[in-house]
Amino acid sequence: MKEINVAVTGGAGQIAYSLLPRLISGETFGSDTRVNLRLIEIPQVVEKLEGTIMELIDCGFDQTGILTATSDIREGVKDADWVLLVGSIPRGIVIDGKKIEERSDLLKINGGIFTDQGKAIGELAKQNAKILVVGNPANTNALIGMNSANNSSQQWFAMTALDANRAKAQLAQKASVDISSLKNMIIWGNHSPTMYPDPYNATINGKSAAEVIDDNTWLENDYLPLVQQRGKAVIDARGASSAASAANAAIDTVKAVENYTEPGDCFSAAIASDGSYGVPKGLIFGFPLRTRESGEIEIIQGIELNDFAKSKIKITTEELESEREAVSDLIS
Ligand code: NAD
Ligand code: LMR
Repeated sequence: MKEINVAVTGGAGQIAYSLLPRLISGETFGSDTRVNLRLIEIPQVVEKLEGTIMELIDCGFDQTGILTATSDIREGVKDADWVLLVGSIPRGIVIDGKKIEERSDLLKINGGIFTDQGKAIGELAKQNAKILVVGNPANTNALIGMNSANNSSQQWFAMTALDANRAKAQLAQKASVDISSLKNMIIWGNHSPTMYPDPYNATINGKSAAEVIDDNTWLENDYLPLVQQRGKAVIDARGASSAASAANAAIDTVKAVENYTEPGDCFSAAIASDGSYGVPKGLIFGFPLRTRESGEIEIIQGIELNDFAKSKIKITTEELESEREAVSDLIS
């Protein structure tokens, strides 16, 4: 069997509880790969991970490797092939008597976590490590982490796959088709209410989803805000941030990165802009991505953008620029 080292922060959190079994079940990395899992938590919580490890052992998967728990990020990410940065504070919880609802609060609280984690990853994870940031604000946390890592051979992503899955589900429902007939679902920009879940370039059985649905009023006034605000709607309904669907999207992202992308399709994640589509270099921006046969990740070029798309992409770009400005002291 092959062997892979996977580090997960926030190992005792809600998302991790759904995520961890699927990382060691053979589903994500293949039945021929044994997964050594390092669970990383803050010191106050790390003991609880012993219980999580017991449950993972009790799942009885053949692909289960060495399972460890630590509150030392450097120990956790050493020689990691994949690092899933889930640990951070979600919206909706109360800290020092104040309910954390604004992204600016999250930026301050969570941004700081990613400097030390990024530094440890840059120094100690494998040179070809892949890093997926799930913790919010995911794009700007990834920006901070990637800058602190300062290791250009490693590949950083921020998660927008949940947004893509949400967008596909809504378009499929409206068009009365199976979700599997939807391809090329692009989330442009930020994992935030400014994201642009592109219905024009998404396809249903090879044809533009917007053309198939043929209802611009619904697309602009219903579909778009629904997908953009779905995270908040789940928090309001559930009293907690989405967890099972977020874990599922993290698994989808890892699989998409590990496997060749078929022509006519893409996967959604945010990576550092190389200037494609006029997005300022370095911003962690949601693009249409493809995994080549060589395993290299590239931004798919030549996607046509109408004026509506351009206006939406401008808004999300400006938001990410202002987030970058707000954390400038953490990325210098
Ligand atoms: P949670 O509160 O249940 O768990 C978070 C865990 O992270 C906690 O156990 C906490 O102790 C741990 N943690 C905090 N700081 C840490 C650190 N420095 N190192 C290691 N662990 C640390 O939250 P959750 O529901 O699992 O959500 C986690 C994050 O994911 C939140 O920021 C949430 O907003 C975000 N999220 C992102 C998406 C997305 O699509 N990108 C979707 C859903 C949730
Ligand atoms: C989500 O999209 O479900 C999360 O990012 C929750 C949030 O804070 O918006």
